[in-house]
Parts: sequence; structure tokens; C-alpha cells
Amino acid sequence: MSDYENILVSQEGRVKIIQLNRPKALNALNMPLMLEVQSVCMAADKDESVGCIVLKGSEKAFAAGADITEMADKDFAHMYGVNPFGEWDKIGQTRTPMIASVSGFALGGGCELALMCDLIIASTTAKFGQPEITLGIIPGAGGTQRLTKTIGKSKTMDLCLTGRMMGAEEAERAGLVSRVVDPEDLDAEVMKAAGVIAGHSKVAAMAGKDAVNRSFETGLTEGIGAERRVFAGLFSTADQKEGMAAFLEKRKPVWSRDQ
Ligand code: CAA
Repeated sequence: MSDYENILVSQEGRVKIIQLNRPKALNALNMPLMLEVQSVCMAADKDESVGCIVLKGSEKAFAAGADITEMADKDFAHMYGVNPFGEWDKIGQTRTPMIASVSGFALGGGCELALMCDLIIASTTAKFGQPEITLGIIPGAGGTQRLTKTIGKSKTMDLCLTGRMMGAEEAERAGLVSRVVDPEDLDAEVMKAAGVIAGHSKVAAMAGKDAVNRSFETGLTEGIGAERRVFAGLFSTADQKEGMAAFLEKRKPVWSRDQ
């Protein structure tokens, strides 16, 4: 069983399973949760008994994004200087193969966390999106970069600029998701794929992951750096304060242009 507060961790054979476990907040990704995920991933890299990591949420939500309550009152100096999302990047640097098992919402940072994994297997109930624009900000954990490289510019712009959600079938067509299965088959399908990966040589699997990511990653660090500066900059705007306050107060935002 798990010694963590925000995740449940178990191991089946050579597969380490991390389940995000903040059900009341739809697995909103706060910093303690992300540090716990990071620590399991880093330990798995050094653990010869782990050949694959599965990252999953609940039936209703993989994760509904970064925790808005944690961010709402932050300013540019904090977001740029402390750079809290820099901690998230370390999860994307995990060397052990990772599968995101997505059911329900994978929004904002949730979609970005799934994109940090090597493949995404989704239930037909999955809903992906980058709704940050509705909060007066933009994606801040790699979304503008990884999503563009994965599904191309047009669909990324569609998601980032409208904030709409994309269902599992559309996500599979777009190349975001590798397999879509019925909800009752998700765990079995994910564990089957994870078991196959974990059954291979770990060093070869790490090398294969590394090699694929070489082509994928060109310019990514620079791109994420650029994204982070803009993302942090938005925390100096009235629209960020209003967008997040409106979400927490369960009302529609009144943008500064309307005042
Ligand atoms: N942060 C904090 N709390 C969140 C949350 C989030 N990202 N998403 C949901 N919650 C909380 C809600 O506030 C609510 O809490 P209370 O019960 O205490 O009121 C609880 O989870 C359940 O949520 P809803 O009542 O809203 O559930 P719903 O089924 O009606 O709607 C939803 C589900 C469409 C996912 C809706 O919760 C929603 O829009 N969530 C926010 C999605 C979002 O904007 N994500 C982006 C965050 S910013 C980000 O991620 C930045 C980045 O790039 C890193």
C-alpha cells in the first residue's frame, strides 16, 4: 500500500502503478501531489524491478488540471522566479517507459501530464483539453509545445484558443492517443501493454524511449522556456486574477476589456 498523501502506489509484477488520488478535486494537480509522482518516477528509474510505470486517475478524471486554488493569487515574480512548474518537467524526464491510462477529464495540466507519458491509452469516456484560455492564461506545463508536436498546429490552436474538449475517438484520430477501449476494458488493456513493455530489457526500453524522444524533443526545452515566461507573465494580468476568481466563485468571468 501507499505511504503517500495524494497518490496510491502499488506494483504488479514489473509494473509500478501510480494512481492520482484527490477525488474531491477531480485529481487537480497541486504541488505536493506532483512531488509525490516525481519521487516515485525517479525511484523507478533506479529500480531494476520496475520496467514500466502506469499513471492513472479515477473513472471520472485522470486530472482536471493544475490546482487553481493553489495558483489563483500568485504573481509573475512567483511563477517566473520560483518556477513551480519546473518541478513538473522532472516527471517528463523519467527514463522508465510510462503509460498514461486516461478515463474522464484530462484537462490543462492533466492533459499535459498525460503528454509527458510515452503513450496514452484512453477509455471512450476520456475528454482532453487545454481550457486555460477560459482562466485568462495559457498552458504552462508544456502543452503548447508537446501538443503541437503530437497533433499538429491546427488542432492545438483549436484546443488552446477555444478551450473546448476533445473526445477519445477524435484524440485517437489526431494521434494523441494510441488505443481507445471501453471503460470496463481500460485497466486490462493498460496492464497488458505495460506488462509487455516491462518484460523487455529495461536498458533497451530506456534507450528506445530516449531515441524516439530525441526526434520529438528538438527545440522542446527552448519552447517550454518561452511558454513558461509567457505563462508566468499572465499572472501579472487582471484577467488571470479574474478568470481564476470567477472559477472558484462559480461564476462567469468579466474580462478587463468589458469593464
Ligand atoms: N483546480 C482546483 N479545483 C478543481 C479543478 C482545478 N483544476 N478542477 C475541478 N476542481 C474542483 C472544483 O472546484 C470542485 O470543487 P468543489 O466541490 O469544492 O466546488 C470539484 O473539483 C468538482 O468540480 P466541478 O463541480 O466543477 O465538477 P463538474 O463535473 O461540474 O466539472 C470540470 C468538471 C469541467 C472538469 C470542471 O471542474 C472544470 O472546468 N475544471 C477546471 C478545468 C481547468 O480549467 N483546468 C485547467 C487548470 S489551469 C492549468 O492546468 C495550468 C497549466 O497549464 C499547468
